[in-house]
Amino acid sequence: MYKVLIRPLFFLFDPEKIHHFTFSTIRFFNKLPFVSSIINSLYKVEDERLERELFGLKFKNPVGLAAGFDKDAKLFNELSNFGFGFVEIGTLTPKPQDGNPKKRLFRLQSDSAIINRMGFNNGGVDAAVERLKKNKGVLIGGNIGKNKVTPNEKAVEDYKTCFEALFKYVDYFVVNVSSPNTPNLRELQDKEPLTKLLQTLKDLNSKKRKPKPILLKIAPDLTDSQLLDIIDIVKDTKINGVIATNTTISRNGLTSANKTETGGLSGKPLANRSTEVIRFLSEKSNKAFPIIGVGGIHSVQDALDKFNAGADLIQLYTGFIYEGPKLIKQINKAIING
Ligand code: FNR
Repeated sequence: MYKVLIRPLFFLFDPEKIHHFTFSTIRFFNKLPFVSSIINSLYKVEDERLERELFGLKFKNPVGLAAGFDKDAKLFNELSNFGFGFVEIGTLTPKPQDGNPKKRLFRLQSDSAIINRMGFNNGGVDAAVERLKKNKGVLIGGNIGKNKVTPNEKAVEDYKTCFEALFKYVDYFVVNVSSPNTPNLRELQDKEPLTKLLQTLKDLNSKKRKPKPILLKIAPDLTDSQLLDIIDIVKDTKINGVIATNTTISRNGLTSANKTETGGLSGKPLANRSTEVIRFLSEKSNKAFPIIGVGGIHSVQDALDKFNAGADLIQLYTGFIYEGPKLIKQINKAIING
């Protein structure tokens, strides 16, 4: 029904407007009696073979919703009814910010892809915390970043602020230094600033009674030598894992007319590169840390490719939009059937 009826209708409208419309619709319907349990029974797959235990957390299944979809933690309860094993909220910044001027989200339909240059539009970490207090048991990742006005030299402070504010309300943290849409953010992936940033958060974490897992989200555009640096940094700082990957600035092999829009590319064209990055990290590190694989998962086979490359968990974003919620169930069923 999604691909035949809902998607063609949605794709007639501006992508950002339809995103907000979908949020309101899902929220509205979930308030009606029985609807959330009906959605649950349609999409949720529960089975011991899907369960994963990683960095001290129990995931009901290994398929999560990637960051950026529910940036402000407005819909994680309802979205989890579609069968996600976990939902990553954010990227959140200390202060609210508008992000880049609209139009900033583009569908590349013939490529099954999206280009976005949202620029961390969000209502700020404190507003998200208020909503997270209403969590009904969803396993939540908190993806954190810095405000656009904060210079890179002071970025650590922004990450610390978000870390402290979210600490009680998320299950794991993601340090996002890989969005192409905040000027110079990706320079924080360099060895020295990244080590400093992660070490600071680790130190803060270790002072807590029960520390939370910290993961690093990286760009698919890093070179092999930069990826080797990442492995060293993860080992040195002893953070808990890596999310590979964010969107790419590459435009290889695209056919859509709007392929020249500035921003990060996600969806099918990203699949091979992100799988390559996962395989590289897994092999070169000798499986030293868990990896969450994300990028271009639009089918069961795409998901299996990520697991085979070394991913322990996976996340969807663009594939969720193009293929609909059924994809989550299909992947989980395939895992059960081995
Ligand atoms: C994203 N992504 C993202 N990632 C992140 O860490 N913080 C963010 O705020 C966002 N925002 C965002 C907005 C939009 C519109 C898109 C399409 C993507 C990246 C996302 O989490 C994921 O890493 C990539 O999109 C690759 O996965 P898919 O989309 O190919 O499944």
